[in-house]
Amino acid sequence: MKILGIESSCDETAAAVVEDGRTILSNVIATQIPFHAVYNGVVPEIASRKHTEWILPVVRQALSEASISMNEIDGIAATNCPGLMGSLLVGLTFAKTLAWATGKPFAAVNHMLGHLYAAHLVQDIRYPYLGLLVSGGHSIICKVSDFDDIEILGTTMDDAAGEAFDKVAKFYNFGYPGGVIIDKLAKNGDPRAAKFPLPKINKEGHRYDVSYSGLKTAVINQIDQFWNPDFPRTPENIAASFQETAIEILLSRLFRAIEDTGLTTVVAGGGVAANSRLRERLAERSDLNCIFPPLKLCTDNGAMIAGLGFRYLSSGKASPLSSNACARVQGFRRLGRTPAC
Ligand code: KG4
Ligand code: ZN
Repeated sequence: MKILGIESSCDETAAAVVEDGRTILSNVIATQIPFHAVYNGVVPEIASRKHTEWILPVVRQALSEASISMNEIDGIAATNCPGLMGSLLVGLTFAKTLAWATGKPFAAVNHMLGHLYAAHLVQDIRYPYLGLLVSGGHSIICKVSDFDDIEILGTTMDDAAGEAFDKVAKFYNFGYPGGVIIDKLAKNGDPRAAKFPLPKINKEGHRYDVSYSGLKTAVINQIDQFWNPDFPRTPENIAASFQETAIEILLSRLFRAIEDTGLTTVVAGGGVAANSRLRERLAERSDLNCIFPPLKLCTDNGAMIAGLGFRYLSSGKASPLSSNACARVQGFRRLGRTPAC
């Protein structure tokens, strides 16, 4: 089955053709970064306008790079949540219209579940495992029992991991997008330059939750308090010490979930899964099987949407053309709670 996957939840207009949920025939990503970089962050109105301009040429390019015509496509998948409402609507409406006009089945795909699927594009992974989903909008630690049976163990209580990278980079004028720039700067910095505090989350029911607002405030507003005067206050040292704590926050909760569940396979996904320090720290754990997608499949792309779309369509789970966009995350069970959109 050849599936056309469309992704437009944030600032990348992306389309891909994937065969049988595994073979990537094309993966076109038109990045809007230069349009948002001048504002040091994504401007939702600019994002949806660019999606409107680019969606047709991007889909055409994905078909052409896969050397395939629309007639040979067996199904169409598109992200319907979570994301920027105006951006989601462009890709979703385009995909549903195409499905209606061609009579092909349609699958609405959760963007975060798409990130989780990215690693499955390159290798067979056995369930169950722990998922670590870390992007600009979400930080989720989950127990994955099947491709459509996922239970959230922990999430962020305030900012997402990627959001913290982006906000620190914006404050210090490091550039946009912050995560990749901080990762690069940190390679030439010393993480001992500042010792930022870890969050203390003691509330019941938050055993696996993370928080980034304290770290963000410490790095932005209270850096003098935590700085080691033996080190110069360089962008590289700020980046390295922030990154060290940001990754430790995630790992402390992930390691707790590993101990509690006894699961030793971890599958990472989302833009922050591209972080080199996160990869390095997890590689140190030889007792774990940590699986990361290749860098191009960590950040937003259409291949992960086509891949998961294949799983839905091949198991008879097509979505109705009345499927709507939803800005918030849905489709997960939450430990002890019912899911909400
Ligand atoms: O998954 P993604 O492309 O879009 C969302 O779904 O949000 O993730 C984008 C996020 C941004 O916050 C970006 O700064 C972060 O991922 N990011 C990174 C790295 N590359 C991208 N964060 C840390 N280290 C990186 N190497
Ligand atoms: Zn994403």
